[in-house]
Amino acid sequence: MSKVLLGACGDISFNGPLSGLVKEKGPDFAFENVIEYLKKPDILVGNMESVIVPPDVTPYKRGLHCPEYVAECLVRAGFDILDLANNHILDCGWKGLLYTQDVFRNLGIKTMGVGKDREEAHSMQVIEARGTKFGFLAYTDPFNWTLEGGGGRVAYFNLSEAIENVKKNKPLVDVLVVSLHAEMEFNPSPSMLKVDFCRKLAESGADIILCHHPHVPQGIELYGNSLIAYSLGNFAFDIDDYMMTAYPHTTRSHMLFIEIEDGKVTNWYREYLRINEKEGRPYRLDEEKRSEEEQYYSYLDSIVKDDNKLREMWYEHCRRYLKMYLEEALELGVDEFIRHFGFRVFYLLENQHWVFGIKELVDREWEKNRYNDFADVRPNSPFDVKA
Ligand SMILES: [Fe+2]
Repeated sequence: MSKVLLGACGDISFNGPLSGLVKEKGPDFAFENVIEYLKKPDILVGNMESVIVPPDVTPYKRGLHCPEYVAECLVRAGFDILDLANNHILDCGWKGLLYTQDVFRNLGIKTMGVGKDREEAHSMQVIEARGTKFGFLAYTDPFNWTLEGGGGRVAYFNLSEAIENVKKNKPLVDVLVVSLHAEMEFNPSPSMLKVDFCRKLAESGADIILCHHPHVPQGIELYGNSLIAYSLGNFAFDIDDYMMTAYPHTTRSHMLFIEIEDGKVTNWYREYLRINEKEGRPYRLDEEKRSEEEQYYSYLDSIVKDDNKLREMWYEHCRRYLKMYLEEALELGVDEFIRHFGFRVFYLLENQHWVFGIKELVDREWEKNRYNDFADVRPNSPFDVKA
């Protein structure tokens, strides 16, 4: 088997001004500044986070969706496979999901993580390049619309199921790639829960794990022989007011290149990019900015190599989320909170990333106090909380 190059991009959405610009200037416009990078790898993979609106569907106002003509941009860019298992794929219902899948398939781009039924959504896609057989599996954290159903058409992430699927499929290919859309947004470091999940997938046989959804880049680690990219960030995305909450990191973009020889990862590197916030498309960086960027990314990589630091940063993110939800609860009142947020907090893995962290902080406090010797006071009474 000769050397193969895999190229990976993060979140792609045409929901903002980019669709209009493509309509006006043509399908090469979206990626013309980075086309040299896109054409380099033997296999190109990305996360498509807009649903293509079917002709008979009126799209949900706040969703991420785009007109059909943008699909041509991804064909010209050379995408071989797109992950569709993400939190926006049901923004035009399951009709939109199937339509998007069909549009790409008809244009010769494979899709993963979705399907007409559960079996198809969880099935491995195979692409062969230079004699190396690559298998692709994709999952998404269960997000809000899980509660509205999806009829098994989306591969929701469940660790034990994913491990079984990796073990079952790995013997059929040379390199197994898992694409995972998961976790909290805008944090520069992953949750310990995601780190744990990814490492377990690696131990089960996944050679490359590509994560996305935080909309900002996170570190990369080589765990055993497996490469884990904890967040690829945005690749082409509308930098709207919501994205501006984590500016400039939401405009920090890159392409990840992974070299594979005889079925093993032998090298990896990034090409640094920036998203123009008015256009929502990526640009290459000039030399001067590259070294600044290099420093930032090596800081991100250093975090994922240090479990203590990772855990402390995760706890900070969890505290922030708890504060946000507490404020929400105070404003809404208990019953409304249960109706609107109770499901999200207790049912969805998306939120478990911070709920688990809070539980660990509680455990930590308990460990500190549980062996207290209380001859004349009760140090741990739950009723002693100050007003
Ligand atoms: Fe997402």
